[in-house]
Amino acid sequence: MNIMVKIRINASVATGLLVIQTIFLLVLYSRQNNHFSGTDGKEKVHLLILSSWRSGSSFVGQIFSQHPDVFYLMEPAWHVWVTMFQNSAKVLHMAVRDLVRSVFLCDMSVFDSYMPKERNISSLFQWAVSRALCTVPACKSFPRDEIINETACKTLCGKYPFYITEQVCNTYSHVVIKEVRFFDLKVLYPLLTDPSLNLKIVHLVRDPRAVAKSREQSKKSLTRDNGIVLNTNGTKVDDIKYEVVQEICRSHVQIYETAAYKTPSFLKDRYMLVRYEDVVRDPLQEISEMYRFAQLKPTNKLEKWIYNITHGQSSGNEKEAFTITSRNAVNVSQAWRNVLPFQKVKHIQDVCKGAMNMLGYRLVDSEAEQKDLNMEVVLPRRQYQFSWL
Ligand SMILES: *[C@@H]1O[C@H](CO)[C@@H](O)[C@H](O)[C@H]1NC(C)=O
Ligand SMILES: *[C@@H]1O[C@H](CO)[C@@H](O)[C@H](O)[C@H]1NC(C)=O
Ligand SMILES: *[C@@H]1O[C@H](CO)[C@@H](O)[C@H](O)[C@H]1NC(C)=O
Ligand SMILES: *[C@@H]1O[C@H](CO)[C@@H](O)[C@H](O)[C@H]1NC(C)=O
Ligand SMILES: *[C@@H]1O[C@H](CO)[C@@H](O)[C@H](O)[C@H]1NC(C)=O
Repeated sequence: MNIMVKIRINASVATGLLVIQTIFLLVLYSRQNNHFSGTDGKEKVHLLILSSWRSGSSFVGQIFSQHPDVFYLMEPAWHVWVTMFQNSAKVLHMAVRDLVRSVFLCDMSVFDSYMPKERNISSLFQWAVSRALCTVPACKSFPRDEIINETACKTLCGKYPFYITEQVCNTYSHVVIKEVRFFDLKVLYPLLTDPSLNLKIVHLVRDPRAVAKSREQSKKSLTRDNGIVLNTNGTKVDDIKYEVVQEICRSHVQIYETAAYKTPSFLKDRYMLVRYEDVVRDPLQEISEMYRFAQLKPTNKLEKWIYNITHGQSSGNEKEAFTITSRNAVNVSQAWRNVLPFQKVKHIQDVCKGAMNMLGYRLVDSEAEQKDLNMEVVLPRRQYQFSWL
């Protein structure tokens, strides 16, 4: 009697498992199919701009966001960190990864854990820098191929209900996410091998001395994130000892070293290193390489806009990188050399030596060298770049 019951239960468990397995395979198959067919026979692309605070990632994000084939979100995992601010970056890695994966698949239910039930499009962090959320079908005020200005978007597009983000996302062939909250490439392995994703990674780095200078200018806004990086149980901290900068440099080394020298097979053709200084020096070249990597073709309008913003013809956007001319931008990217005291430069170089050597940023040995703008500190990229890129 007892045995019979057990057998029956076992049998029904087994059947249940089989059903679950079948459903799983069906879902997997349809996803896979989806991913290769898309709306017009093109493969879907999921692009992660993997960067750090104050490294030019807002600018690079805009270059993608304005493309009419791209659904872009800037820092969606901000919501994870804000909600669980007493945890460490390491502990939050998995939640951040899960959120990023869901957004890539246009599953916005993942935000249920981090936002109130009643919400608008404008509940999303930095929603108005996403052109896709400012144009049809998200917002009726602007056509899809319009170059969108954050201010204009904010006034006209914030009231639409949150759920449409999911439908909107599904109408795009490319989903691009910018994140500064990953410190280890291994965390992303499951996404790189996930058959429902076609993940590509743009790893955007910047001279740590320039990063440190820029971080000083926006000190206040970084203190909570600093606490999470340094695992302070919710205490806000200034990064006077450059411990956060050190952690950022450590993570750049880990990511680049893994991609360049260990190169797991699933990473081949899926990783691209971009130095912000190279973007500043030769923006059109770098942008076209990033587009090619992402399998995007610029439209005429986009080409004109990109030319404008990189040649000082921007019509008044407030972002630093947008308002300066290309020639000036090179100067701005070296501003740390005039502004930072040598002692600080030395400290940053001490904690970031490994990353700087690896990424082609030359150390300066004296104040004289620091101030001498004829001395080149950003080595030409071909000298450090590995062959298959
Ligand atoms: C952005 O929009 C605002 C308000 O509509 C407008 O005043 C401003 O000139 C626009 N800026 C650009 C760069 O188009
Ligand atoms: C949605 O947006 C509108 C307009 O910005 C605002 O008045 C309203 O309170 C918002 N609703 C929620 C739930 O945030
Ligand atoms: C973290 O902070 C909370 C409240 O601020 C406190 O209750 C908790 O004990 C702290 N945890 C640790 C490990 O210090
Ligand atoms: C580029 O700049 C020119 C001159 O300021 C302006 O007339 C044009 O509308 C701009 N084009 C784009 C796409 O921003
Ligand atoms: C570069 O910037 C410095 C100040 O940071 C300034 O003194 C110098 O004149 C600038 N050079 C050019 C060519 O604009």
